[in-house]
Amino acid sequence: MGKTLKIGIIGVHGRGMHAYKAHQPENGLEIVMGADPFYDKPPQSNLALPDFKPFQEKFPDAAVTRDYRELLANKDIDIVFVMSPDFCHEEQTIAALEAGKAVYLEKPMAITLEGCDRILETAYRTKSKLFIGHNMRYFPSVLKMKEVIDSGIIGDIQCGWCRHFIGYGGDAYFRDWHSEQKNSNGLLLQKGAHDIDVMHWLMGSSTRRVVGMGMLSVYNRCARRPDDGTPGCAKWSNAQYPPLEQNGFSPVIDVEDHNMIMMQLANGAQATYMQCHYSPDSERNYTFIGTKGRVENIGDHGDCQIHVWTSRGSRQKPDIIYDLKGSVIDHGGADTPTVTSFLDFVRYGAPTNANPVAARDAVATGVLGHCSMRNGNIPMEIPQLDENLVKYFINGQK
Ligand SMILES: NC(=O)c1ccc[n+]([C@@H]2O[C@H](COP(=O)([O-])OP(=O)(O)OC[C@H]3O[C@@H](n4cnc5c(N)ncnc54)[C@H](O)[C@@H]3O)[C@@H](O)[C@H]2O)c1
Repeated sequence: MGKTLKIGIIGVHGRGMHAYKAHQPENGLEIVMGADPFYDKPPQSNLALPDFKPFQEKFPDAAVTRDYRELLANKDIDIVFVMSPDFCHEEQTIAALEAGKAVYLEKPMAITLEGCDRILETAYRTKSKLFIGHNMRYFPSVLKMKEVIDSGIIGDIQCGWCRHFIGYGGDAYFRDWHSEQKNSNGLLLQKGAHDIDVMHWLMGSSTRRVVGMGMLSVYNRCARRPDDGTPGCAKWSNAQYPPLEQNGFSPVIDVEDHNMIMMQLANGAQATYMQCHYSPDSERNYTFIGTKGRVENIGDHGDCQIHVWTSRGSRQKPDIIYDLKGSVIDHGGADTPTVTSFLDFVRYGAPTNANPVAARDAVATGVLGHCSMRNGNIPMEIPQLDENLVKYFINGQK
């Protein structure tokens, strides 16, 4: 075993807890510091407050700070997990790369296309390693569909659709920072970055032209909490349905709760992604149709099935059914392999399923999809990246 790599986390609660998996002292990996502006200083609020006990209990010897720049100034730290809200990603990641740290950045990469490009350019110039936490590239159901497509059994993929039902939309995205464009840009980007990336990956190309439609038609009619400046937080319960009968939503909601985009990919294939935040149920339902067949997931995590059709006939009778016995925790069991993949990349240069250029292309599609829907549904062209930059990331940042 080489020297122990020291790890810092920016944003220690919420999704920050996902980074705790990297703490493996027996394996030369140690979490030594956390940074969070709310650390030990919960905002005055009558809502459930962020609870930092899990971090303190798990890492009693770790240093903590409210200022992420103090964490980055710690020369002992080799690796930084950026787990903060989306609007912090660009600034904190660029600073971490400039400080020479290897970075795990949660999706979406940034809330603007220019922000993504600045992150990529900084990683290219500094040669600090960059990984974007697109954990759906480690989802068993996505990997099985990719295996089916790559086998050639359904021919060349010409068409891809994703229906995304988000039953917990009102619990997670309309009570805190997510509900404002200035923080997230919009939920097509914030949630859809995952699915757009999956569609690009499985269809072997990325979007060149996007058209969007979206609207805010339900959560704008729900009861809000007072606008007294206190930050909100997510509040999860299946009992919170239907949305119009719930309360405590953000005072400012200016993001759409129902988004649809159509995409033309560089390889000529076409795709559509539809997202709804007031559905009672939750699932990402993808289908990819090729010149010789079709694949579809029924369920996306836990126990689910992958259906494959290769002959004409009833939609009820797929030619092949794969039963997947997936996990119901850790995003279908994808979170641990995602962190392992990042750590192997940092330590051994191992290839990864996730890729920063693809993460940028997903953000580009989300940002310009939002731009289209907010400007009369005009078609938007995705600007291309410099070829050298693309090569550098595709070749594993060597
Ligand atoms: N890959 C996935 O499946 C997945 C799942 C959930 C969230 N996420 C991503 O993780 C990120 C965090 O989401 P979340 O729901 O945990 O958010 P959150 O609001 O719970 O914040 C996460 C942590 O960041 C801290 N924080 C808030 N402002 C900060 C700042 N300015 N600087 C540093 N830390 C700050 C919070 O106190 C909290 O500890 C988002 O970018 C989100 O898209 C990814």
